[in-house]
Amino acid sequence: MPGKRGKPDHYTNRAKREGYQARSVYKLQELQQKFRLFDSTSRVLDLGAAPGSWSRYVLNLLDSRGRLVAVDLCPLEISGDPRLEVLKLDILGQEFPQLVAAHGPFDAVLSDAAPSTTGERSVDTARSAAIVEAIIHWLPRLLCQGGNLAVKIFQGGEEQLLLRELRGTFRSARAFKPRACRSQSFETYLIGIGHTHHDAVR
Ligand SMILES: C[S@@+](CC[C@H](N)C(=O)[O-])C[C@H]1O[C@@H](n2cnc3c(N)ncnc32)[C@H](O)[C@@H]1O
Repeated sequence: MPGKRGKPDHYTNRAKREGYQARSVYKLQELQQKFRLFDSTSRVLDLGAAPGSWSRYVLNLLDSRGRLVAVDLCPLEISGDPRLEVLKLDILGQEFPQLVAAHGPFDAVLSDAAPSTTGERSVDTARSAAIVEAIIHWLPRLLCQGGNLAVKIFQGGEEQLLLRELRGTFRSARAFKPRACRSQSFETYLIGIGHTHHDAVR
């Protein structure tokens, strides 16, 4: 994406040089360096994964024991890695929990999922919150006890409410905005460290 909303972007050029599909990889890199969301043997779930820069980054850090399940409505630009399973699914769809839980439980759930924006901030934040609510709702089926979460949300809606909810189900939870987020962007990430609720029912 060449400087989509303004001047040429350092992160876009760097992503191209380093072989990543999107500049968003540097948001995950910062989140991983700060919060150690997963390690080399983890089972990781990447939601809203297309075109695939987060998934590429995760695969680069996993060794042969690690596993990655990537979910999106759109196809990913990566394939052919035996540690990777790609599911073409709607996070808000009925099939989502069962089909994804069949590959879990996961040590880390990551989501960079974002609705296509309308330009109407209240609509966009509500759609973003709906995705985050669905993910949080299904966490007991998806995330191991002790597991970690990083999920994107548009600010200006329910993020404080959802953060409070996470504080009840993680050892610690906070919001964090990586430097690679565009300055005019109103996205942030909700981080949950040490999941305390795990439901064995699949
Ligand atoms: C910003 S992009 C993710 C970029 C990705 N992390 C990367 O680094 O390549 C947001 C993605 O969320 C996906 N998405 C939005 N709503 C979704 C939904 N309800 N179910 C599944 N994927 C969704 C979009 O298709 C889009 O590919």
